[in-house]
Amino acid sequence: MTDVDDRTPAPRPTEMQVRARADALLSRMTVEEKVGQLVQYFSFGPHFTSDGPALQQPDEVEHALARGRTGALLFVTDPAETNRLQRLAIEGSRHGIPALFGFDVVHGLRTIFPVPIAMAASWDPGTVERGQAVAAREARAVGVHLTFAPMLDIARDPRWGRMVEGPGEDPYLASALAAAQVRGFQGDDVGAPDRIIAGPKHFVGYGAALGGRDYDEVDLSESALRNVYLPPFRAAVEAGAGNVMSAYMDLNGIPAGATRRLFTEILREQWGFTGFVVTDADAGRDLVTHGFAADAAEAAARGVGAGVDLEMATTDPAYAHLPEALERGDLDIATVDASVRRILEAKVRLGLFERPFVDERRAAVVLADPAHREEARVAAERSAVLLRNEGGLLPLDPTTLRSVAVLGPLADSRRDTLGPWVFDVDLDETVTVLAGLRGRLDPAVTEVRFAPGIRPARRVFPSMFDVHPGNVPADPEDFDDDAELRRAVSLAAGSDVAVVVLGEWQHMIGEGASRSSLDLPGRQEELLRAVVATGTPVVLVLMNGRPLDLRWAAENVPAILDVWYPGTRGGTAAARLLTGDVSPAGRLPFTWPRSVGQVPLIYSHTRSHSPSAQGVRYWDEASTPLFPFGFGLSYGRFAYSGLTLDRISVRRGESVAVSVTVTNTGNRDADEVAQLYLHQRHGTASRPVRELAGFRRLHVPAGGSRDVVFRLGPAELSYWNAAAGTVVQDRAPFDVWVGGDATAELTTSFVVTG
Ligand code: BGC
Repeated sequence: MTDVDDRTPAPRPTEMQVRARADALLSRMTVEEKVGQLVQYFSFGPHFTSDGPALQQPDEVEHALARGRTGALLFVTDPAETNRLQRLAIEGSRHGIPALFGFDVVHGLRTIFPVPIAMAASWDPGTVERGQAVAAREARAVGVHLTFAPMLDIARDPRWGRMVEGPGEDPYLASALAAAQVRGFQGDDVGAPDRIIAGPKHFVGYGAALGGRDYDEVDLSESALRNVYLPPFRAAVEAGAGNVMSAYMDLNGIPAGATRRLFTEILREQWGFTGFVVTDADAGRDLVTHGFAADAAEAAARGVGAGVDLEMATTDPAYAHLPEALERGDLDIATVDASVRRILEAKVRLGLFERPFVDERRAAVVLADPAHREEARVAAERSAVLLRNEGGLLPLDPTTLRSVAVLGPLADSRRDTLGPWVFDVDLDETVTVLAGLRGRLDPAVTEVRFAPGIRPARRVFPSMFDVHPGNVPADPEDFDDDAELRRAVSLAAGSDVAVVVLGEWQHMIGEGASRSSLDLPGRQEELLRAVVATGTPVVLVLMNGRPLDLRWAAENVPAILDVWYPGTRGGTAAARLLTGDVSPAGRLPFTWPRSVGQVPLIYSHTRSHSPSAQGVRYWDEASTPLFPFGFGLSYGRFAYSGLTLDRISVRRGESVAVSVTVTNTGNRDADEVAQLYLHQRHGTASRPVRELAGFRRLHVPAGGSRDVVFRLGPAELSYWNAAAGTVVQDRAPFDVWVGGDATAELTTSFVVTG
């Protein structure tokens, strides 16, 4: 425990002071000391060393800290441990330079929010910003200063497991949510006691891996890069992100993480990024693995030379060989100095020299804050997507429901309710769908019966993702698969309604977890079909981070609610949604294909040849999606009217205002996400049939109306043009559609002149 009160804010230094302080330090540092600042070591606690992946010895980290050979660590979330290691770092540096602690605070630290793809489905930058502000508060309280988030990789191939971590398929939505996340993490000042540096990742194109196979190479045209993959990063940089992480894979034949054009030209020179760049884990040495650099010294020279400042390493960092690279003349000291300066500046901005330690007592209080759990519940409610509700089966009426069978292997699995990329959780307080329904329904009225039906799947990386011992469920012994399935079906047969919770176990998605199929894994569809066959009305509750093959369910199951991996209070949120305490209003941040054979399937394709046959591009299956981008139902019913423009002709550089009235014609208060899509009819390139260019989530009481105004200016009306090699705004006619998803029909048009 330290006596330092980390709540006293240090006065915020001006950028000139930041620079002067970094330069003063730099002028006194030896080459070895400088190089030390460019290395970030994983520091796995005792939980990770038992049966986790191959890890470095704790000795290696402590030795490096004590000798000033590392200036940054990651993966430490215990405040006593961050304080202990911080003391080693300060004492190990002749200049008393504190260490920077990073961590993957992706969707919460202790309070877990819905996974990022779910947060994207809220279509609500406010919810997203509040969620990351809670995450930042908890992280900073334990001594974490930098998060490796937001993940901003556009994902258009759901076989890629990391789709769950990102914003989905659309650059416009992704950009809005990128900026919101940066604001949430960083606030106005990363030196504040409840803020951390945001690190958008992975720069860039990682989501376009061939075949959706994680880490495989990526080939992207300049047009795709500029119009689709780069914009969310640009939005994050414009919102002030202090860090960016490189990507693992080869991009157009060169490792992305050694591409000077990306980090120096685009990020720094064109966008004005002033923060520092970190490699992805072990991606420094990887330059050798890729068959790109001959040895570690060359890898280091080419990484730093590209503008990648800090190497994240499990062991034996390539950047430790920078002195050798300098001697060989592979790079010059000024380039190294520029990287070191950026790291030191980040430490100054964070206020680490003034307040290197955290207050362990306060950390415990912050982590337990009930207000954080409430934010997580609300976020889970706002991110759920109602995909189907035939005959108004939902909401269930808790006053008349006599019995409900809650079924499925994910219905009462705390670990799966949280999803991937959570480490420091306490499972005891995670509310599953079963627990949520039990808490919501009055036992005097409704009997809740439960059967998993199917055995839980085996964990693949138990120690990697579970810091708290006891968070790893054991494989059940004596699980009779057929008998359990029959028991579940008979519970359904004898109940008023069956709520079947299915999806992907959390370890089947995320990094290194691509799939060649989008089927519900295991015997889940068999269970679903058998339950439907009983004739009991069925609600399918989905837990997933990507679209799954729901062709059968979408025709045969009356109600489908996608809650994603909804987090710490996911079950409470699900119960409130199912019983109508709140109306679902989340919207898909991706196009939902019918089958894996259709992928990649996006709404913003070009017209190309034979546009009238766009829906019949295959002879064996429709080429239309199962659910369109932006789709989601609610308990309200919405009508759009009065679509008007403030002018029908604009000059380039001017903007046009688009107004519409949204009316809730239903009998329940609900949110609607009004969406605006744009199409340039012709010009100096073929432009997508539709592109999202505005959205607004609105609360509309039953019978009420809201007027919405969207503004379309040069940002929405221009694009990067391959022939011109730059951003252009064509003189052209534009179509506009406004409505509740990418198939919106209410339309008008205007023209851009001169
Ligand atoms: C992932 C990154 C992550 C890093 C540290 C890597 O394997 O690709 O997204 O931030 O590990 O955990």
